[in-house]
Amino acid sequence: MIKKHDILISKFIGNTPLRHCDALSTRYHTNIFIKEEFHNLGMSAKDRPALFMMEDAIARKKIKPGGIFVEASSGNTGLGITLIAKKLGYLAKIFVSQSCSKEKIDLLIKAGADIEICENSNGLHDFNSTQFRAQSFASMHPNAYFTNQYYNTQNIRAHYKTTGPEIWEQTDGDITHFIAGVGTGGTISGVGRFLKEQHTDINVWGIEPSGSILGHFVKHRTLPTSIVPFDPIEGIGRNFIPGSFDADYVDHIFQVNCQETKRVAKEYYNQTGIRVGFSSAAVMASLDSYIDRMDFAPTDTVVLFFPDHGDRYISKLYNDNIRRPHTSSNMTTF
Ligand SMILES: Cc1ncc(COP(=O)(O)O)c(C=O)c1O
Repeated sequence: MIKKHDILISKFIGNTPLRHCDALSTRYHTNIFIKEEFHNLGMSAKDRPALFMMEDAIARKKIKPGGIFVEASSGNTGLGITLIAKKLGYLAKIFVSQSCSKEKIDLLIKAGADIEICENSNGLHDFNSTQFRAQSFASMHPNAYFTNQYYNTQNIRAHYKTTGPEIWEQTDGDITHFIAGVGTGGTISGVGRFLKEQHTDINVWGIEPSGSILGHFVKHRTLPTSIVPFDPIEGIGRNFIPGSFDADYVDHIFQVNCQETKRVAKEYYNQTGIRVGFSSAAVMASLDSYIDRMDFAPTDTVVLFFPDHGDRYISKLYNDNIRRPHTSSNMTTF
């Protein structure tokens, strides 16, 4: 019997394109490919962990049909959960932080999520955080299940089972570098683990905003002595170490700042007519800032992970007096 899960996976989630990016390859004298995750059902990479976490809960009978899936999310996981919940016959309650873009909140509401806006997403120990409020809500409501992406092993597993193998196959095993923004850590941990199992020499690099502590943890395996607010680049950066972040499969994390990320996003839009997502722009900004250290060879195969699309950040990235390029583009690929 074909399960709904299999139909979702094969038709709407995963198997996203990997495209050669001429502009960046020329600029950095190597072969740069972009994994375009905005082709997923909810137009982000987070549909993958959303589906794995929900299927796992259903299979383990943690939730009955008609129940409420609860999540703390910067928007993308919440949207994935809401859309999948609708398809599988469940409801969705999503706790988002006030830093979430207006576009993502509108999308969540339109998709049918019941949303609550919280002060921050600083982790379970903070009473005003999305995570704390989501857990409290789930514990007080019968037939509600907190998917808890920050501590759910299915988050890593989704990328280990789908994203990693896709990238390996799409590059014919030639990949030399994988570069992705890090939030919960699910993407880099799952893809990193899969790729390093194929070839230990593949470089797995993360990108986080200035002030985030994940890079410090990768390097020292301790927390920094002082925790400061990190730059607001939506989806990436943390001031705690999520359980879904496996530092063993990450070689290094580069830091980029918000201003530079916005500058790169606008510059790329003006040059190409393509709007990239906020964390995708952070990955691009890291190339600009660290190209000497990255030291790519002309024969390298570098995969940049773009989790979502710039249309989700018009108000934050693209709204102020920027010159419109001749080629107007909406869902253009790179
Ligand atoms: C836009 C965006 N970029 C990057 C990330 C980070 O991905 P991960 O949580 O797998 O580390 C997220 C996570 O929500 C995201 O929404």
